[in-house]
Amino acid sequence: MHRFVVFHLPINEFANARRVVWNRHGVRQLRSGWADGPAYITQCPIPRGHSYVYNFTITGQRGTLWWHAHISWMRATLYGPIVILPKPGVRYPFAKPYKEVPIIFGEWFNADPEAVIRQALRTGAGPNLSDAYTINGRPGPLYNCSSKDTFKLKVKPGKTYLLRMINAALNDALFFSVANHSLTVVEADGVYVKPFDTNTVLITPGQTTNALLRTMDHLPNATFLMAAKPYATGPATFDNTTTAGILEYESPNTSTAVRNPPLLGPTLPSLKNTSAAMNFITRLRSLANAQFPANVPQIVDKRFFFTVGLGSRPCPKNHTCRGPKGAKFAASVNNVSFTLPSMAILQAHFSGQSHGVYTPDFPRNPNSPFDYTGATPNNTFVGGGTKVVVLPFNTSVELVMQGTSVLGAESHPLHLHGFNFFVVGRGFGNFHPRKDPSKYNLVDPVERNTATVPVGGWVAVRFRADNPGVWFMHCHLEVHTSWGLRMAWVVTDGSLPSQKLPPPPADLPKC
Ligand code: C2O
Repeated sequence: MHRFVVFHLPINEFANARRVVWNRHGVRQLRSGWADGPAYITQCPIPRGHSYVYNFTITGQRGTLWWHAHISWMRATLYGPIVILPKPGVRYPFAKPYKEVPIIFGEWFNADPEAVIRQALRTGAGPNLSDAYTINGRPGPLYNCSSKDTFKLKVKPGKTYLLRMINAALNDALFFSVANHSLTVVEADGVYVKPFDTNTVLITPGQTTNALLRTMDHLPNATFLMAAKPYATGPATFDNTTTAGILEYESPNTSTAVRNPPLLGPTLPSLKNTSAAMNFITRLRSLANAQFPANVPQIVDKRFFFTVGLGSRPCPKNHTCRGPKGAKFAASVNNVSFTLPSMAILQAHFSGQSHGVYTPDFPRNPNSPFDYTGATPNNTFVGGGTKVVVLPFNTSVELVMQGTSVLGAESHPLHLHGFNFFVVGRGFGNFHPRKDPSKYNLVDPVERNTATVPVGGWVAVRFRADNPGVWFMHCHLEVHTSWGLRMAWVVTDGSLPSQKLPPPPADLPKC
């Protein structure tokens, strides 16, 4: 057992922040839901000047995950990697890399991101665009005035580097490549995958991807750019800029070092290149071997069909809204735009006092049958509420998430707390409940915690509800989460003592 991690409220970064919470994204938190972190789901925020110790045990996981603030848009700058190494004596399923390097993508606003979302929610309009993307906190040479603020990776020839990539950007999936170097993908969301070579990696907010980079055998007289730019599918405008870092071959002898070496830049797919995105996504497969089996649930106890997408909410009286048709932008799951309660759902569930906090009536089936990927209907209003799905302990769940084209089709990276799921199927158009399941991959589907619902399509995932507690599920594009594209699963206790959620820690913040 390994016990660690205390985070402090960094008052200097968010001078106005009076409260914060932290999430360990992708850490399963088996029976430690009190340490998961999303505000008003598993805990109330930590007030300024107070502290809360997140106490949890890593059970059966290894790989690259990350931590971030989980309230409003504070994760804009409050994030970092969590690297869980294999147990001593256990090897990687690939040759040991010479070096391991975290590569964290971020999104930078020349403004307080909290103010950006506050203004968007008040006016009902879309938020202002970010001003740059970053690699390890630095925008890089392709932006004005930032050529010195560039992440540099110094490498030696003929070595293998393990890049531990994390997309912490608020609102954009990113394509990433390194000029003149190919990458071998070996892990996604902290789970090994069958290795494959690619020039371009697609990584959505919330996802992590490990890839091996092999440097050239001889010292080339050049430096190379590694660069990331967005993959975005919706009708809105995007910050379509490119962040870059530099891969610099160390010279054995400084006197022969090349001065002002030319920078070779990679070619990246264009903004809406869905075939490049799908080409990457569909190559991800679990290792599914004797040492690393894929325990895909073969039998399903409960099937769910969720629609995910945009919509609108009426403008409050005596108010001017600048969203669609004078209303406010909203986003929903099964037409419910989820409202955060004023007390944590996990606390209410644990004490058996759900009244006034949440209701267990999350709609099972939307207005089916319906052409989800057809034209935008006249009425784009969605409902609201704090509605949850209650799952008996150990339920084997199949969840189909159908993207809608209400107010424009768009892809959504859906993230589930408390579990990894297997991505058993994916397709374009409307999900067909009879034909599509026969094509599921139940042998070696990728296992992860964040999966893309493709633009104009659907994704099917399976997981076993073996973790008692309350588990948030949401689009990891922060603007969609803020608009209500989020919901929660309540997983009840099992009958054995080892299947029950322990009581909350004494220092859990009060609401
Ligand atoms: Cu990465 Cu709900 O979080």
